[in-house]
Amino acid sequence: MSKKTWEELESKAKELNYSAEDVAKLYLEYARLSKRYGAAIREVQTKLQILDEDFEMRHDHDPIHHMESRVKSMESILGKMDRKGFELSLESIIENLTDIAGVRVICHYVDDIYEVANLLKSHADVEVIKETDYIKNPKPNGYRSLHLVVKIPVYFAEGMVKMPVEIQIRTMAMNFWASLEHKLRYKSDGEIPKFIADELKECSETIAETDLKMQRIHSFLQDIDQNVTLK
Ligand code: GTP
Ligand code: MG
Repeated sequence: MSKKTWEELESKAKELNYSAEDVAKLYLEYARLSKRYGAAIREVQTKLQILDEDFEMRHDHDPIHHMESRVKSMESILGKMDRKGFELSLESIIENLTDIAGVRVICHYVDDIYEVANLLKSHADVEVIKETDYIKNPKPNGYRSLHLVVKIPVYFAEGMVKMPVEIQIRTMAMNFWASLEHKLRYKSDGEIPKFIADELKECSETIAETDLKMQRIHSFLQDIDQNVTLK
């Protein structure tokens, strides 16, 4: 670990009243564990890439625009364990956090989101442990996305382990909104000023309407005969 990373981690540990020694020990174990979560991310992304390519061949349209992924940093893990009041140990982290491995799937259209989710959920080795539809039920601030937490088998040298992965599936427009909202929340220490929060909510509704309109136009184009020219 670089000096800077350690200093940041040490100051986070101090802020949350964890002993620097415990955190240093945990970090060494976490370094090994994070490789496992990285492997789980690759398994999920491979499945999604294959589905995307096959879907394109069949329907002449690729549902996935692009994917992003991350393994939760030790700093964020410390913050979340503290926030949720869980005891800080490797076992407790593994048991309580299902979002250490995260994959974000950015789709073109709203229907693509459900298409991708349903295809992935149909895999015999994918176990859905949680599904939250923030598109049908947006958060009060306007956040929209489909969230899945799945368990996926990963084969390591000493055997198979079912690893949890959090998957967020959203359109490009929803992603645009969530990125700005996240940045604002970070800049304003969690409390976005009301006048900005109101504007953001309005943006989220405009975006949802536009997503639907774009979907309708896209579906119309998919439905008409390929040889017809629009005039
Ligand atoms: P966490 O303790 O945050 O993990 O909450 P949770 O386990 O109830 O999950 P939830 O579905 O609320 O959020 C999981 C993740 O979705 C977050 O870590 C964010 O990446 C994303 N997310 C959820 N709500 C929002 C939001 O209001 N704005 C943005 N930008 N992202 C959000
Ligand atoms: Mg989370």
